[in-house]
Amino acid sequence: MNYFDNPNYSVIVVGAGRGIGRAAAVELAAQGVAVACFDSDAETARQVAEEIGSAGGRSVRAHLDVTEPGTLAPAVEKAMTAFGRVDALVNCAGITGRTNVPAHDVDPEDFDLVYRVNLRGALLLSQIVLPHMLKQRYGRILHVASIAGKEGNAGMTAYSATKAGLIGMVKSMAKDYVEQGITINALAPAVIRTPMVDALPQATVDYMTAKIPMRRCGELQEAAQMIAWIVSPACSFTTGFTFDLSGGRATY
Ligand SMILES: NC(=O)c1ccc[n+]([C@@H]2O[C@H](COP(=O)([O-])OP(=O)(O)OC[C@H]3O[C@@H](n4cnc5c(N)ncnc54)[C@H](O)[C@@H]3O)[C@@H](O)[C@H]2O)c1
Repeated sequence: MNYFDNPNYSVIVVGAGRGIGRAAAVELAAQGVAVACFDSDAETARQVAEEIGSAGGRSVRAHLDVTEPGTLAPAVEKAMTAFGRVDALVNCAGITGRTNVPAHDVDPEDFDLVYRVNLRGALLLSQIVLPHMLKQRYGRILHVASIAGKEGNAGMTAYSATKAGLIGMVKSMAKDYVEQGITINALAPAVIRTPMVDALPQATVDYMTAKIPMRRCGELQEAAQMIAWIVSPACSFTTGFTFDLSGGRATY
């Protein structure tokens, strides 16, 4: 299914180097969208951008670390120079921090790092693309949150708190631009098999997967296609919302 009919449509994907971000970048490019592949891991961003280019798609890439504010503007300028506009941002940058840690053992330093990536990073990214979108009077912003932000995962205090914060931030931010053609939404996946999930203890993955009524993990392609639709012009009457991608775990 192709949701884009504008050949100049351009999307920035942050965290494009692997996992959900990579799948979204490849899917968007396959749908004819110009894709800026940004990641704190410059090498994987390069690989994805080259893969898109080899398949005939348009892409640029850059190192961007959401915890290093100075890396944001140069990356976005690169996308502006290459494509002339930024129609959408897909923010997949996220970390779990330490897991399997009961709340009384949470290291505040670890909490701060997870906060800087998952929540503060989302604010900074939004702030860097919004001026472009306001000029265009059009924009789509999608932050990937998590089911953990809706329900809380045991042993994942920092992750759950920052994802809940992201869901709240999206609700608020969306209202600021609701009359300016800009939608801001979140996505709450349950378990999608990616390197992030592979790095978790098996007990944590089992705990999360057991809660999914469909009794399976989500597929990368299921995430990528939903993301593509949410950041397309077709998704025009929904803002401030957290889309569910949880195999029936969350029905709200
Ligand atoms: N995989 C899942 O089951 C799942 C479930 C719920 C939510 N999520 C969320 O989806 C998003 C993507 O997850 P994933 O599973 O693909 O993870 P992943 O670890 O496989 O990929 C994350 C990407 O983000 C990049 N990144 C990390 N920190 C960054 C930073 N400071 N600045 C820029 N880029 C950075 C990484 O280099 C990596 O390429 C995350 O926000 C995650 O919390 C994933």
